[in-house]
Amino acid sequence: MLTFHPNPKPWHPSTPTNFSSIPFKARSFPSRIANSINEKNEPKQSSAGKIKRLVLTQEGRTKFNAYPDREFYAYPRFVTHVDSGFISTLTDLYRERLSPGSEILDLMSSWVSHLPKEIEYKRVVGHGLNAQELAKNPRLDYFFVKDLNQDQKLESDSCNFDAVLCTVSVQYLQYPEKVFAEVFRVLRPGGVFIVSFSNRLFYEKAISAWRDGTAYSRVQLVVQYFQCVEGFTQPETIRKLPATNGAQEDKGPLSWIARLLGFLSGSDPFYAVIAYKNFKPLYE
Ligand SMILES: C[S@@+](CC[C@H](N)C(=O)[O-])C[C@H]1O[C@@H](n2cnc3c(N)ncnc32)[C@H](O)[C@@H]1O
Repeated sequence: MLTFHPNPKPWHPSTPTNFSSIPFKARSFPSRIANSINEKNEPKQSSAGKIKRLVLTQEGRTKFNAYPDREFYAYPRFVTHVDSGFISTLTDLYRERLSPGSEILDLMSSWVSHLPKEIEYKRVVGHGLNAQELAKNPRLDYFFVKDLNQDQKLESDSCNFDAVLCTVSVQYLQYPEKVFAEVFRVLRPGGVFIVSFSNRLFYEKAISAWRDGTAYSRVQLVVQYFQCVEGFTQPETIRKLPATNGAQEDKGPLSWIARLLGFLSGSDPFYAVIAYKNFKPLYE
């Protein structure tokens, strides 16, 4: 029998998790994305969640280090991968977008989830490649280990989460179209997927489409990952860029105003791409 808190519990720690068997409060939601009616008054099958087109070429999916990702993440790294400015921007974003009491999946997580400490969520499930890191994460009720470059299926019922998060990790996904389609499936209608990233990366493990890109093209790539799945809302992008430092620092009145308004952060650049699972897709 599994218990909640204080420590997150792995389910089948040594095997890819069948996380449908985690005793989630099975709020078994019938999909509220209603099928529409055709001319003969018959229900039409919804195409919500279908992959419309592939974003990446085969070449774009390749990595310098082609060994299995589980080997690369075999040892725990109890570090933060971005600086405190980035993390506080992210935590503020979560404070603004995630409702207290909601059910959250932190995809590609580690020992930290960057969620606001003062807010209680109903359930936070973590996923990643290192069980030791996930076991130390104080925000997780459960976790599971699964290599998403081997198998993209999230073994969860559909419509199980109000929010899915993916922090500074999307650059490692070789089949993002399938992963985003899975995220769509496990989200409840109206649920949000928040993908955040900076300019840091494990270079050898990032896909070439990311590695060889610019800040602008990386944001566009994530926008396209959302757009290739039928039924996400138009993605919204948030950028918070660092001030240039030292002698080059722009001390002009415009940059001062920009800093005042929070557009320049003085830390790792912050990018987030956010979309919601549409209640009723417009295309039906
Ligand atoms: C830079 S860390 C970020 C961890 C965490 N999200 C954070 O904010 O600190 C990248 C994470 O991606 C996960 N990851 C990398 N490749 C993966 C794969 N193929 N399948 C699943 N998770 C993967 C690893 O577990 C690792 O913790």
